[in-house]
Amino acid sequence: MTAKSMEELTSLCKRRGFIYQTNEIYGGLQGLFDYGPLGVELKNNLKQAWWKSMVYDRDDVEGLDAAILTSPAVLKYSGHEETFSDPLVDCRSCNSRWRADHLEESKCPSCGSKDLTEPRPFNLMFKTNVGPIDDGTSFAYLRPETAQQTFTNFKNVLDSTSRSLPFGIAQMGKAFRNEVTPRNFIFRVREMELMELEFFVEPGTDEEWHQFWIKNRLEWWSKQGVPEKRLDLYDVPAKELAHYSKSTTDIMYKFPHGIEELEGIANRTDFDLGSHTKNQSDLSITAKVLKNSSSNAKLAIQDRETKRWVVPYVIEPAAGVDRGFLAVLNEAYTIQKLENGKERTVLSLKPHLSPIKAAVIPLKKNNEELVLAAKNLKKELQGLSLGRILLENSGNIGKSYRRHDEVGTPLCITVDFQTLEDQTVTIRNRDSMDQERVHLEEASPYLQEYLR
Ligand code: GAP
Repeated sequence: MTAKSMEELTSLCKRRGFIYQTNEIYGGLQGLFDYGPLGVELKNNLKQAWWKSMVYDRDDVEGLDAAILTSPAVLKYSGHEETFSDPLVDCRSCNSRWRADHLEESKCPSCGSKDLTEPRPFNLMFKTNVGPIDDGTSFAYLRPETAQQTFTNFKNVLDSTSRSLPFGIAQMGKAFRNEVTPRNFIFRVREMELMELEFFVEPGTDEEWHQFWIKNRLEWWSKQGVPEKRLDLYDVPAKELAHYSKSTTDIMYKFPHGIEELEGIANRTDFDLGSHTKNQSDLSITAKVLKNSSSNAKLAIQDRETKRWVVPYVIEPAAGVDRGFLAVLNEAYTIQKLENGKERTVLSLKPHLSPIKAAVIPLKKNNEELVLAAKNLKKELQGLSLGRILLENSGNIGKSYRRHDEVGTPLCITVDFQTLEDQTVTIRNRDSMDQERVHLEEASPYLQEYLR
């Protein structure tokens, strides 16, 4: 089951501490959100799952965490200064601004006027001043994608790891886009996080690898609770392709506001490495190199056997963390009718994504013996390093269960008076609501097994 509307999700997120509007006490700042106590856990878990599948579970990918501020030269030769823009129109009646390609009819969504300007390109990159002089000569861009810092580190990574093709560099982190009309909660924001893999391959093998990564990414989303049957593939038509792409397939998901892109998997060819490379004369390459590149780097790799220099092609699966968060949350959101006619809200998250792995609940909050036993158990379970374990000392079991169902905690462990007599606790399962009596010594292996 999914949410009926975006409002159901935004309300849950605010109420339970997943996501808040940024700077809310000052009226907010459009297109920016803050992840609260539970949101940060879920987001980190999703990123960790991506990192594990990309870096730890593979033998051909290295990690990278590069700077956000980016030299204008990089984004000049990458083509972003010239082409990273959306078509903007102004309403001459009310002065509001809109993305031309988002207008359903050719009239202003705000006042209804048809007196709109012709579309003109609006560059989406944020600029900031670098250093103490603010005269416009010393500035950097906030990166619009992590990919460029991966390309400019290509030689560094190659020199320090001795990789040969095919291999990849994975990077997760913040990226910034001055969206004309940020909207639909965390779907389209101005400050977001990306999970991007640049996978470098021998030219000629690129199309095969493109298909490999499309399949791989569908399987990964499925493991995060967004099953393949809920996803569609969209082959981006040639006229809509980004300037660097030979072909792009988008993974589309039915968000509460409509079917939109969750992740894009692009064949970037040798466009970027070629563009950042200057001295090309000794390379047998296929790159269409920008003539004026001011980079001195030779972003190519030498074949160990043939000694031939190659500018690799790049296959890039690029997913938005925030959109992933929204899709995972939407898929997990369930309202269940109970036998007694009541309803319960359950977040059926995959346990590895749950913000809280288990809640330990003493039956009575003022009973020292119960609270001490619960604290000891919490400490023991936390020591397993499986994620966050919460001591829930509210004194109201029913309320605690409801709260933990709603935030997706897979297990609630209750310490009661019987615990003091026979060292057993009750473990309640979020999904089945079944309860089991388990010896305290069994609690750790039980949790480990459940989360494995
Ligand atoms: N390096 C390639 C690249 O950046 P993209 O399609 O522009 O490709 C990748 O972005 C992913 O980032 C998208 O599939 C989407 O999930 C996410 N994304 C893009 N713009 C976004 C925005 N304004 N807010 C939230 N997520 C966004």
